[in-house]
Amino acid sequence: MEKTLDKKEAARRIHQLSEDLERHNRLYYVEAKPEISDQEFDFMMKELEALEKQWPGLASANSPTKRVGGDITREFPTVAHRWPMLSLSNSYSREEVQEFVERITRAHGRTLFTMELKYDGVAISLTYRNGELVQGLTRGDGEKGEDITANVRTVRSIPLRLHGNPPAELEARGEILMGRKEFEALNRQREGKGEDVFANPRNTTAGTLKLQDPKLVAKRHLQNFIYSLNAGDLPTQSQYGNIMQCHAWGFRTPDPQRRFIAQADTVEGIMEFIAHWDRERHHLEIGIDGVVVKVDSIPLQEELGLRAKSPRWAIAYKFPAEQKFTKLLGVEFFVGRTGAVTPVAVLDPVELAGTTVKRASIHNADQIAKLDLHFGDLVQVEKGGEIIPKITAVDLARRPAHARPVHYPAHCPACGTPLVRDEDEAQHYCPNEHGCPPQITRRIEHFVSRKAMDIGGLGGETVETLFHAGLVHNVADLYDLKQEQLLALGKGWGERSTQLIIDGIAASKAIPFEQVLFALGIRHVGEVVAKKIARAVGSIDQLAHMAKEELLGIGEVGEVIATSIRDFFGAEGNRRIVERLRAAGVQMAATTAHRRPQTDRLKGLTIVVSGVFETFTRDGIKQTIEDNGGKVSGSISGKTSFVVAGADMGPAKLAKAGELGVKVIDEAEFRRMIEA
Ligand code: IVH
Repeated sequence: MEKTLDKKEAARRIHQLSEDLERHNRLYYVEAKPEISDQEFDFMMKELEALEKQWPGLASANSPTKRVGGDITREFPTVAHRWPMLSLSNSYSREEVQEFVERITRAHGRTLFTMELKYDGVAISLTYRNGELVQGLTRGDGEKGEDITANVRTVRSIPLRLHGNPPAELEARGEILMGRKEFEALNRQREGKGEDVFANPRNTTAGTLKLQDPKLVAKRHLQNFIYSLNAGDLPTQSQYGNIMQCHAWGFRTPDPQRRFIAQADTVEGIMEFIAHWDRERHHLEIGIDGVVVKVDSIPLQEELGLRAKSPRWAIAYKFPAEQKFTKLLGVEFFVGRTGAVTPVAVLDPVELAGTTVKRASIHNADQIAKLDLHFGDLVQVEKGGEIIPKITAVDLARRPAHARPVHYPAHCPACGTPLVRDEDEAQHYCPNEHGCPPQITRRIEHFVSRKAMDIGGLGGETVETLFHAGLVHNVADLYDLKQEQLLALGKGWGERSTQLIIDGIAASKAIPFEQVLFALGIRHVGEVVAKKIARAVGSIDQLAHMAKEELLGIGEVGEVIATSIRDFFGAEGNRRIVERLRAAGVQMAATTAHRRPQTDRLKGLTIVVSGVFETFTRDGIKQTIEDNGGKVSGSISGKTSFVVAGADMGPAKLAKAGELGVKVIDEAEFRRMIEA
C-alpha cells in the first residue's frame, strides 16, 4: 500500500532522498566506493521521481532526477566568462619543458611545480552559487561560451550541490570526456543500427554536449575531471591545494595515488613524470594527449602573468603520435555509397595506442603510388587523434625480394565496371550507380539513417537482407514494401519489428524537404549544404531545372557541388526515383505556413506533443498534426485539446495535464485517430 504524504512531509522526503542519492552518486562516481546496490539506488530514484511528479512545485533544478535529462533545450545562449578561458602553450619536445622550468627557477628561485595529465576532452566551466550548480559553459572563444547547463547536469561525476563550506560563488574548471570503453560500446551500438561510427572520443564528447536533448546526453556516460578553481577568495594559495579542496567539496579530481597529479621542484622529477605517462598512457581508460606542468604557487602565477592567450606559468607537453612498423598483408578496395573506391590496408595485427590495429586507410590511388606500396612491405602505421590509423611510410630496405607492387584496380571490385576519375579529384569512382550492389545498399542505408529519413528499425544488416531478397533495389522501393513481404523473410522478422519498419517508412513521409534532399545522397551534398539549398530553392522541381550558373548563386554551392547536382538530375534513373518518392508522399518542397492540410481529421484541435516517439521524429509528429488540420502548441493550457505523450514525457507536463484535466493519449492512439 502506498501512503500519501502531505506537502510538508513530501518536501522533507524529497530533500532527504535528494541528499542520499547525491551522496551515493558521489560514492559511486567520484570515490568509486559504492555503499549500496544499484537496485537500492534505483528504488530511491524511482521514489523521488514519483514524489516530484506528484508535487512538481517541489522539484529543484538540481534534483538528482535531472541527471537522467530534463526538458529539451532549444538553443544554447551565449554567456560571457567571468574569468577568460585561456589555452596552454604546447610543446612537443622535452627540452622546451626543461627550458620553461629553468627559466622560472633562474628568475624566481627553486619553486614547486604541479604536474597533471592533459585530458583529451572538452573544457567546461562550472559555476556554483551557495554551493549549488547554477551554470555550465563551454570554452567557446575563450571570452564567451555556450550555456549547456542542462546537459552538464547529466554528467554523474559533476556534483549538483557541494559539501562543506565553499565560497558563496566559485568557478571550477575541468575537462569533460568519454572513456574508451563507453566510446567503443557506443560505436558498436551505432554499427549495429547501420549508423556512421564516431571518429574519436573527443569529437564525440564535443558533439554530445551540444545535443538538444539532455536525455540522450545522459545515455552517453560522460565523465569529468576538475583541474582548476577560480573564486574571489581561494581556499589555498597552491594549485595542488585547491584541487584537493575541490575534491573535498565533492568534485572528481585527479587521484595522486594513481599519479594523475604530482609535484616536483626539479627538472628530473618533472621529466620522470612525463616519461612515466608516455609509457603508461595507453593503459588508461581515458584519453590523454600530454602532461601539463604548472607553477604551484598562486602568488607566483600572478607575478608571472599571461601572454595574449595563455599563461606564462604553465606549459603543456604533448606526446608524439605513436607509430609502429607492421607487415602489409593485403589491400581491400571498399566501394562507398557515392561509388568512391577507397583502398584499405590489411595489416598483421599490431598494438598501437592501446588498441589492436588490423586495418589502415590508404586514402586513394595517389597515396599508393607515393608510398610505392608492395605486398609484404613493412609499413609504418600512425595513430593520431583519429580512430582509423594511417600508413605513413614504408621501410624500403626490408622489402622482400620479388615483392609484387600494389595496383589500384582499373575496374570496380564489386561489379567490374571500369572506374573513372574526375579531373581535380583524388578519388576514383565506379560509375555504375544503379547496378553496383554495395553502392545501392549503402545509398539505401544512408537514406534511412537518422539525419536523413530517420526510418527506425532499418539499418545496415536489414537493408542488405532486403536487397538480397530482391525486395528493394532503390530507395523508392521502400515505399512499396508490405508487412507480409517482411514477415515472409523468416527468423528475426517478427510482427513487432516489421510493424516498426512499416510505420517508420510511413512516418518518413513527413520528414522535411531539406532532410529529404540530404537523404537522396547527391554526391557532395551533405547535411548543411542540403539545408542551405532547400531553403534557397524551395522545391525539388525548382532545383532540377536550375542551370549551373543559377546554382552557383546559392551560398555554399561551388563548382563541384553545382556540377554534381546537374549530373544527378541529368540521370534518367535518378529522375524516376524522385518521381516515385513524390508519388509515395515524400516531401519534395519546403513547407510554408500556407501549406494546405491533407485531411481535416484534427481540425479545430490544439495539440501538445511531449516525450520521445517510436515511429515519429519530433518534427515529424508536428508536421503530421498540421497535415491533418490540427494546431501544435508548446505548452499545456485550458485550450489544449489533448496531449500526445511519448516515452519519458516530462513529469511537470504530466502533472499540469492532470491539474487541468487535459486528456493524455499515447502514440498508438494518435495513429488510430489520423489513420481512422
Ligand atoms: S589548465 C590557463 N590543465 O587543455 C590554463 N588544461 O590548451 C588552461 N586541458 O582548454 C587550462 N587537461 O581543456 C589545464 N590538466 C589540465 C588540462 C587542461 C586538459 C585542456 C583544457 C584547455 C586546453 C588548453
